[in-house]
Amino acid sequence: MHQPKRRLLLAAGASLSLSLLLPGASVSAQAAPATSLPNVVILATGGTIAGTGATSTTTVGYTAATVGVQSLIQAVPELAKVARVTGEQVFQIASENMSNEHWLTLAKRVNVLLAQPNVDGLVITHGTDTLEETAYFLDLVVKSKKPVVLVGAMRPSTALSADGPINLYNAVLLAASADAAGKGVLVVMNDQIQAAREVTKTNTSTLDAFRTPELGMLGYIQGSKAFFYRQSTRKHTLETEFDVSSLTALPMVEIVYGYANVGPVAVDAFVAAGAKGIIHAGVGDGSLAAKVLPALKAARQKGAIVVRASRVGQGILARNGEANDDELDFVAADTLNPQKARILLMLALTKTTSTRDIQRMFYTY
Ligand code: DGL
Repeated sequence: MHQPKRRLLLAAGASLSLSLLLPGASVSAQAAPATSLPNVVILATGGTIAGTGATSTTTVGYTAATVGVQSLIQAVPELAKVARVTGEQVFQIASENMSNEHWLTLAKRVNVLLAQPNVDGLVITHGTDTLEETAYFLDLVVKSKKPVVLVGAMRPSTALSADGPINLYNAVLLAASADAAGKGVLVVMNDQIQAAREVTKTNTSTLDAFRTPELGMLGYIQGSKAFFYRQSTRKHTLETEFDVSSLTALPMVEIVYGYANVGPVAVDAFVAAGAKGIIHAGVGDGSLAAKVLPALKAARQKGAIVVRASRVGQGILARNGEANDDELDFVAADTLNPQKARILLMLALTKTTSTRDIQRMFYTY
């Protein structure tokens, strides 16, 4: 009997998928007709997912933000099985250079696209260094229930076992999934689904860098399917009071770091530079060193909002715990890390300067 030859099917592009057709094996499912697939727009901003290195083993010391969005899409032909994908190059930057102005531009483009009936979901490719910040900013200002998924890579596109292609596939698959609607802005890295509010980068270079310690990730991507096991309890997207559509700038809010021997210089400098808010990333439960407290009091008296956060990374920053916030008229950051507390305070200051109102916002978002 004629035995069908084994054939090696090579998929084009950076991802190499081998499927051996064995006698009697069923060919993998044909892609669904494109007309039945959701429309997902990929907004590319740069980062390592778009990075290139000198060799296939270069996983540090590469150049971020060199590969364009069309190349990212072409490198993953499997995307066509899960969505009708189009791409826009919004920026091409390493994300340490992300700015308030970039955020406003991105947020406005996101809201315009999501308002279009022919857009079902968005993916934003992004450098991992500030990915958690952009995700939380969008979580507070996106005005749609449609999925918005941020994704990056810990290895450049040229590296052996680059994680970008599978991360991008997972992100598009999630953005095309009805289960992802209404859950706020999501982050997908390393087959895990994370919430924008709580996810943080916990390692400088490993593939599992993005985690949600203690409060937990939301679910997994496995076998081309999204599995959710929890969702954030805090308000987001359509439920928030923030609207950036008419904003051209955000209030200046800066972060000062707490450590042994810290002094008041940083606080004084930021206030002199015109900061409208100071996030104090304190030791422990947001303790204020005796040498810093007078500077923070002076900042408050000049009208700056002071938020006590912690450098620790996990746990509730308790109001009136390590400092008398009622008496000082300071705000407690709850469980937001300092870089995310800065984002919420910037947006809060577009609405109010009442510390009572701002504290409510830190307990709400
Ligand atoms: N320069 C860093 C950035 O663009 C590279 C890190 C990365 O994207 O993984 O965030």
